Amino acid sequence: MRVDAYDKVSGRALYGADRVLPGMAFAALALAEVGRGRVSRVDTSVAEAVPGVLLVETRFDGELASPGFVMGGGFGFQSLQPMVGDHIAYRGQPIAIVVAETPVAATEAAEAITAEYQPEPFALHLDSEGATTLVQEEAIPLPFLADIKVGDPDAVIAGSPVQIDNVYEHPPQHAVPMELNGGVVEWQGDTLIVHEGTQNANAVRYGLAQQLGIDAANIEVRSPYLGGGFGQKNSLLLHIGPAAIVSRRLGRPVKLVLARPQTFHNGSFRPATKHRIRLGADESGRILAAIHEVDQQTSRHDLFPAMHTEVTGRLYGFSAFRGRQRLVQTDVQTPGYMRAPFESPSMFAFEQAVDELALAVGRDPVELRLANDTDTDPITGLPFSSRHVGDCLRRGAELFGWSGRNPTPRSMRADDGSLVGWGVAIGNYPGNVAAAMATLTADADGRITVSVDGHEMGQGIRSAIALHVAQDLGIPATEVIVQVGDTTVGTQHLTAGSWGTATALPAVHSGLRELRKLLNVADTGDVDVASAVSVAGHPVRVSVDSLGPGQSPDALAQARSGHLAIAGPVFPGFVIFSWIAHFVEVRVEPTTCRIRVPRVVSVADCGRVASPVTAASQVRGGVVWGIGAALREETLIDDRFGFLNTTLEEYPVMVNADVHRIDVDFIDKPDYQFNPVGVKGLGEVSMVGAAAAVANAVHHATGKRHHRLPIRLEHVL
Ligand code: MOS
Repeated sequence: MRVDAYDKVSGRALYGADRVLPGMAFAALALAEVGRGRVSRVDTSVAEAVPGVLLVETRFDGELASPGFVMGGGFGFQSLQPMVGDHIAYRGQPIAIVVAETPVAATEAAEAITAEYQPEPFALHLDSEGATTLVQEEAIPLPFLADIKVGDPDAVIAGSPVQIDNVYEHPPQHAVPMELNGGVVEWQGDTLIVHEGTQNANAVRYGLAQQLGIDAANIEVRSPYLGGGFGQKNSLLLHIGPAAIVSRRLGRPVKLVLARPQTFHNGSFRPATKHRIRLGADESGRILAAIHEVDQQTSRHDLFPAMHTEVTGRLYGFSAFRGRQRLVQTDVQTPGYMRAPFESPSMFAFEQAVDELALAVGRDPVELRLANDTDTDPITGLPFSSRHVGDCLRRGAELFGWSGRNPTPRSMRADDGSLVGWGVAIGNYPGNVAAAMATLTADADGRITVSVDGHEMGQGIRSAIALHVAQDLGIPATEVIVQVGDTTVGTQHLTAGSWGTATALPAVHSGLRELRKLLNVADTGDVDVASAVSVAGHPVRVSVDSLGPGQSPDALAQARSGHLAIAGPVFPGFVIFSWIAHFVEVRVEPTTCRIRVPRVVSVADCGRVASPVTAASQVRGGVVWGIGAALREETLIDDRFGFLNTTLEEYPVMVNADVHRIDVDFIDKPDYQFNPVGVKGLGEVSMVGAAAAVANAVHHATGKRHHRLPIRLEHVL
């Protein structure tokens, strides 16, 4: 069941930029065309003469403060606010904003803006001259970003009979959600109202307050739906502040929607990474020690923290592990979170290394993984609250028919002569939770209105919440009204990191307990809400706060001031991860070497499955992303400028013709140590390991190993 499905398919669901307000004007941005430098002159004369143009602005010095970087205590996807000062930090940075009576006039005028620059040298690749490499634990001295050291893996590996040592490269990628970045801003008196698809209405609110020097009490942010977030919409984007200023100046609402190519420069992206993986194992394939060293791209102006080794260090029962992460400063906008931001690239590297180990010792890759399973977290020594990855592997193998696999590469062929490859990989994702607040109201008509921290970005959070309330009270889900993404009804902490369900549901669950008390009904069992309210004589309303296990109550104040308030994956006495196993079949056409993926089986351990329909869709979506990462997606770089392929024609994502059968199953065992609802995260773990499973299948089909993504046919030929 999807409670908002009809609203979405019928167009009744209004996304940020769907708003049409009386007197609304339209804005467009002009972008810098150099890789880095100073802008010495912006010529707006032609733009200003375009019929319908109302305003052209090139600088907001003194009017627009930096929002700060979201991972540095601020609110923005990057600390750098364009159109303040003359510095151009990267190609595609905005240099002007145009407002006009129509979107066509605004776009025409923006395209007519020219500029003169004093160019400066710039670096775009991990190994470019001028790129600066920093050891993360020295650059950002925070415990959770430090090197991980357990035992003496260098010595153990050196003494191991079987050793694997390889470098894996993952390209930069851009999330391309269907909904472009953009929205509508309006002033009602001194109150700024922002309609924008964001995963973090709270940060947009407090970030704009800081930028504009106004009280957050005078800012409302409404984000009832997103057409995809994926991490790119996790904080204040840089177009909103300028839009708010020009709207105030004109005294009119302003709509600003970035063009698709502009989104490649004015939002975060998945940074390039390089992973060196070393494994030491005995002859049976038992992994004795592992070392994972990562170089990750960041911008010149912000340090985007790398958290790759947090997941790989937990994959198997290592007795010794070392993880080190370095940040490489390049001249781009600040990279950021893109679905399974660290976990997918890490697993592509690590789970191929494990496949290489299985071949080296001549052991079945599923058996080898099962033999390395553990109940204890190798890094902290604490137990995992739940870890059913062994069950995921066993059930997946059975559903896939893995026992029919011939282990020899290039040994299996389809009737049409295609090489057939079967690959497996596992994945994990940290169990996170955010501080949350929920308000529940029971009305005389029997309906329950729930307002809670959360954002609906297509993942189905409204369905999960409505279903939970409906099951608890024994009422139809259609009698539950869910309000999320709106700062006028709640705090609206960032929804990301796969903590949405494990954050909203426990808050709603505890709200239901309070509501039942006030309605004077038992703590469990069906409730006749309308009669209970009529006995009470008035609508009944409760508000509750909710925290993760052992999370400090300070987190609530932190959240209320627009900041992140997250806990996990290490909690007092236990460690929480979600788990998955992917089984992939590829077919490689022998002459063209075209790679197809006819079928995938994925089995996930996400605790209790809160919303079966949307959960299965989440996993299918994650697998589709994994296939895309393995075979297609890459943001190319033109060394003269910057990001090159910035349209959907040139940045190929998976389409229907690329995706065939994906069978999804769940272990569905509740994790009550995490929360009383038993749910763990799912949205991101669904992708983790999928690209590795494709790469392992390509190796099985062809006998060729690819240490760099994407694997295109010219690499296989
Ligand atoms: Mo996600 S990349 O944590 O929005």
